[in-house]
This record gives sequence, C-alpha cells and structure tokens, in this order.
Amino acid sequence: MISKYIDLTVGAGLAPLAKGGMSRSDRGDFICPDYTKLEEPAKAIREGKLVLFPTETVYGIGANALDSEAVKRIFAAKGRKQDNPLIVHISNMNMLTDLVEKPNEIEQKLMDKFWPGPLTIVFKKKKIIPDVVTAGLDTVGIRMPENIISRKLIEYSGVAIAAPSANISGRPSGTKISDIINELNGKVEYIIDSGMAEIGVESTVVRVLGNAVHILRPGKITKEDFEKLGLKVNVDKHVLGKYENQEKVMSPGMKYRHYAPKTKCLLVYSKNEANLINEINKIAENNKNTAVIAKTRNLDKYNAEYILDMGDTLEEISRNIFTILRKVDDYKADLVVIEGAPQTGLGLAIMNRLIRACDNNYIEC
Ligand code: TXA
Ligand code: MG
Repeated sequence: MISKYIDLTVGAGLAPLAKGGMSRSDRGDFICPDYTKLEEPAKAIREGKLVLFPTETVYGIGANALDSEAVKRIFAAKGRKQDNPLIVHISNMNMLTDLVEKPNEIEQKLMDKFWPGPLTIVFKKKKIIPDVVTAGLDTVGIRMPENIISRKLIEYSGVAIAAPSANISGRPSGTKISDIINELNGKVEYIIDSGMAEIGVESTVVRVLGNAVHILRPGKITKEDFEKLGLKVNVDKHVLGKYENQEKVMSPGMKYRHYAPKTKCLLVYSKNEANLINEINKIAENNKNTAVIAKTRNLDKYNAEYILDMGDTLEEISRNIFTILRKVDDYKADLVVIEGAPQTGLGLAIMNRLIRACDNNYIEC
C-alpha cells in the first residue's frame, strides 16, 4: 500500500510568491487550508481505514474508535503493546455522553476550562467502547483537540477517533511529517500534512481521584494551571521516577521506554546555568565523540564534537525536542548529553520525555 498524501500546510496549492513581493495576506490570498480535502480521509475513517492526522500536540494515527478491527490495525502499524490503551478524540460534547459515564464536578471544571485543548481526561467508560481501545481497562482517556484539522476530520467522519501518537512504538512522537514518513508510509491509507505541530509534546493526561487531579503524563496544560483553578493536584511518581519491573501503574504508557535514541544519552540539570555548562563541558572532555543538545544561548559555550540547538524558551524546546531526539543518532556520537529544564510549568513535560529518552540516566548538580 502507498499512503495517499494530503497537503493542508498553510498556503498549499498557492502559486509561489515572487521574491520581494507582497506577503500572501497583503495580497489578499486566502491562506486558510482547503478543508474540503478532509472529506475523503473522513470517509476512510468511517470505513475502517487508518489516517495519519495533525493535532496541536503531535501527529496521531487515527481510526474509528468504535471499530475494533480498525483499531487493531493501529496497534499493528505501530508495533504497540496490546496493554497500552489509546486516547479517543472527540469534536463536541455530545460525543462524550455516548462514550463515558456522567463526569463529576471536577472533570466538568477541567473540560470547561481546557477543552478544546491539549488535555486528556481519563473517565469511567461506557460499554460501547471496544476493549481493544482501552486495553481492557474500565476507563478511557478522552480529549477534544484544539487543532481545527483534527476537529474537522472527526466532525466529517461522524465518529470518535482513537489515536495514539504517530510513531513506531518506542520512537519519539511525530511532530512533522518529514520525521515520520519513512517509518509510517504504507501503514496508513492517508497522511494529512499541516506542517509542524504547535506544541510538540503530547497532551497532559489526568485522572480525577477523590477531590484531586492526578497527573499521569505532564504536558502543555500544567500542574500550575490546575492549581490556579483551586484544585488539589498530585503528580504521579512515575512522571519523573523509574518504573520498576512488575510494579502496578495507573497508566500503562508509564511502563515503556519511550523517545529513545539508539545512542547512549545523559540528562544533566542544574539551577545554576554556569554550573550546568561547566559540568557538561567536563563530561564532554572526559568522553570522546560527544554530542551536546543545548539551549540556543549556550551553543557557543561548549567544547564538544557536535552541538545541537534545542531552542531557548520552554515552548521552543517542547516544539523541537522530538525532532532533535530523532536526528541525534545521525551524528554517530558515542554519548549525547542533554541540558535539562526546571521541573515546573511546561518544564515538567520536557523533563518527563527527556528522562525517558535517557533511560533514567539523569544527574542534577
Ligand atoms: O497529544 C496526545 O495525547 C497524542 C495526540 C495524537 O492526541 N496522543 C498520544 O497518544 O500521545 P499515545 O497513545 O501515544 O499516548 C497515550 C497515553 C499512554 O501513555 C497511555 O498509557 C495513556 O495515555 N492512557 C490512555 N488511556 C488511558 C487510560 N484509560 N488510563 C490511563 N492511561 C491511559
Ligand atoms: Mg505515544
């Protein structure tokens, strides 16, 4: 099978601008993508096919959430373990009523504030959701994405879409098509390209337990965002801690090694940036053939064989990190040292992904 490519990047299909000419919006060009192109993949979803599509966090591989045969194909395409449940994506609140038991007050508060957006809430599920979607759990993670293309795809298909991140299991999630085309081309019927994902790390996953919000996976919606609503918040110990074999976890995804380059990686963090640079330079000195992944402002401060730019702000790092983790093996370094971030705000999500990418190889100095 060859996947059919659908270009919904901004300006797709428009004539290129002459150098020095007016910008497209000055010229009055309609730069909104042509959403009618979504009708064909939406029909495919209805018919049990797989569609790779954008969301504001990362790309997803979607199938009709109520079609267990279609959902099984997602697991096969990704090489995903059967015990790791999928997130179900909806485009309006009516869809939720069919899928889950009545939300409680806190869940309602979260939806009112953060949907549509990068927040997945784990609810008690109704029977209509096939077991394969939830890996046999009696709960289901639901999210209403903010990205217009994902919402229109769901709306046009008329069904909720089960979708994990678009990547082979264990690899970093796909934030742009060029990063994942080689591993997923031919495994899905359609590939919808809308350029680079805005956020770059996957949605925050939470479960409401008693009167507290329990963070199972940190993301763009942060612990501090929940606290601002006056909610009690716990961060699961596996967000930064190591999974011990056979341990019981609240979210099966916590058990698996993720985002991992083949090259050995070490994550280093210090509150004091001068300290951090010093420490990493010492490591680079003691290890031949080292690559350092660093913030833009620190790039010229390292003596290492390869120096890669992760961006400066947490937002930039979040957007770039998966592409960099995918690229780093190309350098054939013997060791990759990565600058860590503070474990607050969006930094918690970045550190969660980096600690996993480094297989818990982490030092704080
Ligand atoms: O941003 C995202 O969430 C992206 C886009 C495509 O929406 N999706 C995504 O899906 O990251 P995936 O499958 O790569 O990650 C889903 C995570 C896994 O760690 C899984 O274990 C957890 O959510 N999860 C799903 N359903 C769950 C449930 N019922 N209880 C606990 N954890 C659940
Ligand atoms: Mg994933």
